[in-house]
This record gives sequence, C-alpha cells and structure tokens, in this order.
Amino acid sequence: MRCWRPVFSILVNTAFRKPSSLWRHRASRCGSTDKAMADLLEQQIIAPYDSDWYRQGCDLRRVVFMEEQGVSLADEFDGKDPDATHIVTVQNDEVVGVLRVLWLPEHAKIGRFAVRKDLRNEGIGSRLFHTALSFIDRKGVERVMLEAQIDRIEFYENFGFEAYGDEYLDAGILHRAMKNY
Ligand SMILES: CC(C)(COP(=O)(O)OP(=O)(O)OC[C@H]1O[C@@H](n2cnc3c(N)ncnc32)[C@H](O)[C@@H]1OP(=O)(O)O)[C@@H](O)C(=O)NCCC(=O)NCCS
Repeated sequence: MRCWRPVFSILVNTAFRKPSSLWRHRASRCGSTDKAMADLLEQQIIAPYDSDWYRQGCDLRRVVFMEEQGVSLADEFDGKDPDATHIVTVQNDEVVGVLRVLWLPEHAKIGRFAVRKDLRNEGIGSRLFHTALSFIDRKGVERVMLEAQIDRIEFYENFGFEAYGDEYLDAGILHRAMKNY
C-alpha cells in the first residue's frame, strides 16, 4: 500500500500546501496540463528508509544507474541506505528525482543523484540538489562532499563545489571527488 504521508516535506512553493489532488483538479478544470502546472505540483520530500517514496526512489536509481549506466546491483545498493537521508522529487504523485545524504564524521556526502531521463534539463535536479544543501545546512553541517561523474563536474561547480584529487573509476565510471569547503 502507498504511504502518502511523508514524515517531513519541504515545499518548493507555498501553493504546494494545498493537497496535490486539489491542484490537479484545478488544473484539469482550467484545461491546463502544461509544464507550469506540473512544476506547481512538484515537491521535495524526505523519504524515510523503506517508505513507499524511498522504494520509488530506488526504482528510479535502478533505471538510471543500473540500466542506463551499467552499475551493478551490489554497487548501487551498497548497504548504506538505512543510515542515509533520502530526498525525492515528486511530481503528480510520482518520484522523478532522487538523492541520498550520508552523514559522515567529517562531512555530509551527497550521492545517488538522479532525475528521470525524459525530464532532465528542466531544472528538477538543480532544485532537488538545492533542497538537499538547505536541509544539510539546517542540520548544522557546513561541509559537504560528493563524488562527481566527470561530465557532471560543471553542474556541481555552479553550487560552489570544487574538484580535488585525481580522477578514479567507481562502478566503472570515471569520477572526481568534490567538496564545498
Ligand atoms: C545529473 C542529473 C541528476 C541532473 O538533473 P537535471 O534535472 O537534468 O538537472 P538540471 O535540469 O537542474 O540541470 C542540468 C543542466 O541543464 C541546465 N538547465 C537547467 N534548467 C534548464 C532549463 N529550464 N532549460 C534548459 N536547461 C536547463 C542546467 O544549467 C544544467 O546544465 P549543465 O548540464 O551544464 O550542468 C541528471 O542529468 C541525471 O539524472 N543524470 C544521470 C545520473 C547521473 O549522472 N547522476 C549524477 C552522478 S554524479
């Protein structure tokens, strides 16, 4: 059964305080099913481990990392999920973006960051990443790092991250570590 009640929800727009079903209803009454309305229905949600939102996020990770990028099951699901914070982007009741935050002694580490392929380059990833940084900041953690796929480095530089150290292969993909401190 679906779990529709997130433990904690970060709302991108105050309009989201309305139940999404109401807004869908209004959208159809206005005859407006365009992107602007889809954006209005977007939420970033903290998905508790093993919740339905979490599992939908895992489905997206499977599609993006395992099917699209060839990452193995063992690499993708490395046993660290129970201790991580998982944040998903939900549009129209479907998870379209996902990432996780690991709370390490020296910094928070963002990873498993993916957006549904047909919805990329529309800003969903940037909004999700920004939400994650705000959440980490609100937890009082200033130091954040991640392991960037080489062709994504510029994306993270736009958020103030700098690459350091050598390039390396992780799950068969060339990476570089980045940090914001
Ligand atoms: C990385 C990823 C999560 C980004 O998600 P996204 O939703 O496409 O991200 P955004 O749309 O916010 O930004 C992506 C790019 O589009 C640009 N963009 C943002 N909004 C845009 C818009 N409205 N119109 C056109 N382009 C836009 C951004 O400037 C950014 O440019 P860049 O490629 O030079 O960095 C997504 O590409 C993905 O899932 N990739 C596969 C998995 C992966 O590689 N994960 C990262 C591992 S390090």
